[in-house]
Amino acid sequence: MAKVLIIEDEEEIGNLLSLDLRAKKHTTTIIGDSLSAVQLLEAEKFDIIITSAESRTMPGLKFIEWVKNNTKSAIIIHGFPPLADAKAAFELGVDDFINNKYQADELYSAIDNIGKKHIPPHATSFAKRENLDTQYTRILLEEVRSKEKNDFDLYIRLSEYKYLKVCNRNMALPAERAESFKKKGVHALYTSKDDFRKLVNFSIKAISGAVSNKQTPKDELIRFIESTNDTILKSTYLNGVDKESFTYAREFLTSSIGVLAENFDAKALIESLNSKSDALYNHSLGVAIYAILIARKLGFTSSQVFFKLGLAGLFHDIGKNEIPPELFWKSRPLLTAQERTLVDSHPDRTYKILSKASFVPTDVIRLAHEHHEDMKGTGRPRGLTKGELHPLSKIVITANLFVERVIKTRETVAMPIQQAFKDMETIYGDALDLETMTALKALFT
Ligand SMILES: [Fe+2]
Ligand SMILES: [Fe+2]
Repeated sequence: MAKVLIIEDEEEIGNLLSLDLRAKKHTTTIIGDSLSAVQLLEAEKFDIIITSAESRTMPGLKFIEWVKNNTKSAIIIHGFPPLADAKAAFELGVDDFINNKYQADELYSAIDNIGKKHIPPHATSFAKRENLDTQYTRILLEEVRSKEKNDFDLYIRLSEYKYLKVCNRNMALPAERAESFKKKGVHALYTSKDDFRKLVNFSIKAISGAVSNKQTPKDELIRFIESTNDTILKSTYLNGVDKESFTYAREFLTSSIGVLAENFDAKALIESLNSKSDALYNHSLGVAIYAILIARKLGFTSSQVFFKLGLAGLFHDIGKNEIPPELFWKSRPLLTAQERTLVDSHPDRTYKILSKASFVPTDVIRLAHEHHEDMKGTGRPRGLTKGELHPLSKIVITANLFVERVIKTRETVAMPIQQAFKDMETIYGDALDLETMTALKALFT
C-alpha cells in the first residue's frame, strides 16, 4: 500500500482523491500548496505525490524538478496541463497523468504502474519501457471536435512511451481545449488501435475470419510499420505538397496498414506488392496517400472514408502481380494485342484477388476495380459512366493518373508536377473529373 501526498487547493477535489485512494487501503495526506509540500517533503517520505497541474505558490514544473532532485517519490499529475507543460513535465520524469474527471480505475492503474516500475531490479529483470506507438493511432482533430460526445478515449502523444488522455469516452472534447490544440499546431489526437478499428469500421471479426491463425511477432510488426512509414516518406513526398496534410495522410495510412498487418494474411498481401520491384509498392502507397489528400481537400473528415481510400489505393493494382512487370514499363503502342489484353486484365485480377481476401471491405474492392474507369464511360474494364461509379472512385482514378506520372520508381522517371497536370488534361480531357482535379491542384498551391 502506498503512502500518498495529495497537493490540492480545492478541498473537495482533494477529499475525493483521498476517498478513492483510501478505498484501496492507501494512506493519504492532503496539503493545499506545493510550497508547504516542499517543507513537508523535507521532513517526511512519500511514495507517491499527486499534484494538480496548476499551483498558486510554485510553478508546476519547478516543483516537479525539485521533487525529482530531492526525493524518491513518484509524481502523478492531476488535471490537464497545457500541452507544452505536459511534455516538459514528462521529460522531467513525471510518472503519470490522470484526467480531471478521472475514473477510479485510471487512478488505480496509474498507481499500480508506478508500483511495478519501483520494484527493485533484482526482483525482476529490468522491465523494458514499452514502446506504445503500435497501440495508438492518429485521429483528425476536425473529426472529433464537433461531436457532442466521442465514442472513444482521446489522447495526445508525449513520447513513444507516454500517451496522455485528454478526453474520456462518452464526453465532448471541450471547445476551448480543441481551440488551444489548433493554435499549437496539433491537428490530430490519438485513439487506441482497438478504437481505431471501430472508428474505421474494420472489425476484429473480419481479421479473425481470415484463413490463417499465424501471428507476426510484435517486434517484426513494429519493424514492418516503421519501414512502411519510411517508404511512404521517401517515395511519395512531392516538393510543394501541403506539408501538414501530407503528414496527416502519411500517419493515417501507416496506422491503417498497421491495423491490417496484424493479420498475417493481410501482411503477406501487402508485402507481395513489394516482392518483384519497388515500382508497384511505391506506386500503390502513392495512390493511397494522394487519394487521402484529395479527399481531405474535398472536405471529407471521416476516418472511415480515409481508411477505405487508403486500402483501395494500396491494393488497386495488386492484379499486376500476376502479369510480367516489364509489360507495364513498355508504352502502350509497343505492346502486341495479346500483351495489351493481359495488361488490361489487371483490374479484373485485382477484383478477384481482393474478393477472396475476407478482410477487404466490399466497397474497397469496388473502388479498386474501378480505378481505370473514367467520367465519359470510355474507361476499362467495364466502361462505367460517372453515375454508375462508386462516389469515391473518381478520387482513386485521379490519384492513380497523377501518381503514375509523378512518383519515380527505379523503372520510371518522374514528371514535374505542373507538367503532369497538363499531360493528364491533354490525354484525358473531359474524361477527367474536374472536382477532384481542382482539389489535387490545390494541394500544391
Ligand atoms: Fe492500374
Ligand atoms: Fe495504378
